[in-house]
Amino acid sequence: MSTYLVTGANRGIGLEFCRQLKRRGEEVIATCRRSSSELDGLGVRVESGVDVSSGQSVLKLKKKLQQKNIDILIQNAGITEPSSLLNLDPQSVIRQFEVNALSPLCFTQAFVSNMHQGSKLALITSRMGSIGDNTSGGSYGYRMSKAALCMAGKSLSIDLKAKGISVAILHPGLVSTRMTGFSPNGITPEKSVDGLIARIDSLSLENTGTFWHSNGEILPW
Ligand SMILES: NC(=O)c1ccc[n+]([C@@H]2O[C@H](COP(=O)([O-])OP(=O)(O)OC[C@H]3O[C@@H](n4cnc5c(N)ncnc54)[C@H](OP(=O)(O)O)[C@@H]3O)[C@@H](O)[C@H]2O)c1
Repeated sequence: MSTYLVTGANRGIGLEFCRQLKRRGEEVIATCRRSSSELDGLGVRVESGVDVSSGQSVLKLKKKLQQKNIDILIQNAGITEPSSLLNLDPQSVIRQFEVNALSPLCFTQAFVSNMHQGSKLALITSRMGSIGDNTSGGSYGYRMSKAALCMAGKSLSIDLKAKGISVAILHPGLVSTRMTGFSPNGITPEKSVDGLIARIDSLSLENTGTFWHSNGEILPW
């Protein structure tokens, strides 16, 4: 049994991570701003009041967990807000950058001392953050923030290698969640998370720093 900490665990992909990990017997610490009946029903440890973009709230969680060992840290919390060239709101771009890129980096810094040789860090980014894969443009705030997260993940994979901590940079696929308006073209959270967990299981110091699709495809930067 390993200890997993999941951010943004009250719904969508984060909730499904908790469900599947609990089912296979792992210890799960589910963090969220506000819990949900679905999350409360899983029987995992729920830490609510955790806004990843608030230094104060992350510090509060850090104090609660103190020396608690974390084997796998899954940073899943994220937001998307529309931004096109014609309708660009700089504050919205900054907000997405804060939640999607800067917060996972600061969260990692806060909890790296709870991790050890063999621990793993999984960053839930998006294919929308791939420069090589960008053929449709737009979505400035989301794309820029996820590209920045990919870069943070790559640097973390280098910086944490000496500590024996490996890093996966993961795209869930197009998933039918609230973020995508429950897109009928999306795969289910079950299928996405099944693949994401397989990627995390196969993560090692040899393949650390790779940008994967949940289906195992290696994505271009
Ligand atoms: N769905 C897709 O097709 C897709 C594709 C590529 C990447 N992703 C990425 O996958 C991750 C999960 O997305 P999802 O599809 O499950 O979306 P979702 O259903 O909208 O869930 C987003 C989660 O992030 C949490 N969150 C947002 N801001 C937060 C903050 N400041 N502090 C703490 N938690 C916060 C939300 O909590 P609240 O309920 O409190 O808002 C919610 O739990 C995101 O990083 C997203 O960018 C999703």
